[in-house]
Amino acid sequence: MPHRCRTSRHRFASGRRLALQGLVALALSPRGLANAQPVALAATPAQPEGPFYPKTFPADRDADLTQVAGRAGTAQGTLLYFSGRVLGRDGRPMAGTVVELWQCDTYGRYHHAGDDGAPRDDNFQGYGAATTDAQGRYAFKTIRPVPYAGRPPHLHVRLLPPGGSPLTTQIYVAGDAAGSDVVLSASPRGTLSRLTMTLVPAAGRERGALAGTFDFVV
Ligand SMILES: [Fe+2]
Repeated sequence: MPHRCRTSRHRFASGRRLALQGLVALALSPRGLANAQPVALAATPAQPEGPFYPKTFPADRDADLTQVAGRAGTAQGTLLYFSGRVLGRDGRPMAGTVVELWQCDTYGRYHHAGDDGAPRDDNFQGYGAATTDAQGRYAFKTIRPVPYAGRPPHLHVRLLPPGGSPLTTQIYVAGDAAGSDVVLSASPRGTLSRLTMTLVPAAGRERGALAGTFDFVV
């Protein structure tokens, strides 16, 4: 009897091990991968476009906002390398997405006809665009955003994924006071934490330059 019990336990254990091995094999097989549930990432929250999306675009609209073609000077402010990825909600990179970036200059002025209240840094491009590569990566060279008119420092971003819906949002900086902001106050609870990037020294770049990474999900 004890022998039969051991045998049945052994059979059960062997069967369970085989079942687990089968599940592992299925998960690793092409059929298992095909049947795998896609990763459902939460979409990046949208934010208002604001009044200063360009009405006319600068002749130089590349991904380096710190230098304007034809001008010898460079933008004032703290350099910021802003980069990251654009992913679909299934986690796949969104290659070919146009990422537009616009922000005010170091004086808090947008290069827009509707914003003429402050000195202007003509060496700041104000607007630029980049297209994501096969891994969904984008990269900009710009300046650390500054506060203006009661708003915390932020970057305006618009994403145009191929075949998808555009996303317009704003990216904030960790540690900058943003709690009483008029835009964020009108946003769903928890929005700020999902639109915040942490700035760190940019390794191997200019002295004092910062780096901020943000991955978008569209
Ligand atoms: Fe703004």
